[in-house]
Amino acid sequence: MNVLLIGSGGREHALAWKLAKSPLLTSLFSAPGNPGIAEVAACVPLDASDHAAVIAFCRDQNVSFVVVGPEGPLVGGLTDALDTAGIKHFGPSKAAAQLEGSKGYTKDLCREFGIPTAAYGRFADAVSAKAYLAAQRFPIVVKADGLASGKGVVIAGSRTEAEDAIDACFAGAFGAAGAEVVVEEFLEGEEASFFALCDGTHVLAMASAQDHKRVGEGDTGPNTGGMGAYSPAPVMTDEMTRRTMDEIVWPTVKAMAARGTPFKGVLFAGLMITAEGPKLIEYNVRFGDPETQVLMMRLKSDLLAAMLATADGVLDAFDLRWSDEAALTVVYAADGYPGTPLKGTEIRGLDAARAVDGVQVFHAGTKAVDGRIVADGGRVLAVTATGRTVADAQALAYQALDLIEWPGGFCRRDIGWRALC
Ligand code: AMP
Ligand code: GLY
Repeated sequence: MNVLLIGSGGREHALAWKLAKSPLLTSLFSAPGNPGIAEVAACVPLDASDHAAVIAFCRDQNVSFVVVGPEGPLVGGLTDALDTAGIKHFGPSKAAAQLEGSKGYTKDLCREFGIPTAAYGRFADAVSAKAYLAAQRFPIVVKADGLASGKGVVIAGSRTEAEDAIDACFAGAFGAAGAEVVVEEFLEGEEASFFALCDGTHVLAMASAQDHKRVGEGDTGPNTGGMGAYSPAPVMTDEMTRRTMDEIVWPTVKAMAARGTPFKGVLFAGLMITAEGPKLIEYNVRFGDPETQVLMMRLKSDLLAAMLATADGVLDAFDLRWSDEAALTVVYAADGYPGTPLKGTEIRGLDAARAVDGVQVFHAGTKAVDGRIVADGGRVLAVTATGRTVADAQALAYQALDLIEWPGGFCRRDIGWRALC
């Protein structure tokens, strides 16, 4: 079958790399793709927000399955348009994508269905949000309700800081995403990412990962989209996985079905493993970036078959095999990230890096110019390796990364440290 993959990041390169191995695949297209994806797919300059153009392309190229990578087109209703056109797809409906599109929506769902999460208040104006602070303890967390590329969250150490964050949100610091604000209890514990395929009725647990959101070593400095990740997450023991499925993922899938908005796609639960057990920090309705890079290195089964089983509602008759090995990815970012990244600097040595056995170099923000690869984004490469342990995977990933010659980039040198101490 012909498949179209929407997206252009490191996550999509990892998905494309895995989809390209499927015996079910005839041709893979990617819109817009990137120079790494171009090695396994035909990249086409389609705008995912132009639903009619995507549908016309699918009809023209005989594409019978569309995989949507990022959250933007999901929240924008691309899969609803594909449904209407009778084109099968991987990714939830616009209504179900509210699990990521609105933090308040998810918090209300948790409250209604008894899903463990931080205590919270949801506000449409600064006065009531600030009034709520009076009875709270600090630190406290202030979040823009909508999509803010992981940047709409402030952990406020004092009431003044929280008030400033509330004011900034309503003053438009995160655009339309900040029209509503969620103020929630600060949870203590270790974070983990957990992924499960959901077909509307059934759930199939995938795997766990941990990412490093802060730009600086020792998990310090501003938040980013993720500077590196590893899988599995040691904190996700069998018992924590079982509790996450029973207390968080299953109740959510049942609630969404009961509301008439069944969730179909991959549910990415951002968790805090607290002294009382797993609590939901947030949901994403798509794969994580860079978590996907490590997940795909460990997945032994056919990804396309799994995605089709998700779309067809037959996950109860499906299974996935995972490598026992660990995987670790280091993000190589452009100088200036997460502020304004420097674009256009040349990257060399990519062939040497990926020639290392057990290593894949996924492109996240690159551009090909006259046969050269240059930086074209914040997170530019994800150098990914497998190994018997997280420590082995880490050593191999840095060994490969050091073969890349890129004076315009930087990386964290401590990815995986929590799993090693
Ligand atoms: P989010 O975009 O909701 O995942 O939040 C970004 C990051 O902020 C998370 O990965 C956590 O590190 C932190 N965070 C968010 N909510 C909380 C919370 N209630 N308690 C502690 N940390 C939080
Ligand atoms: N790495 C976090 C995310 O994809 O949202």
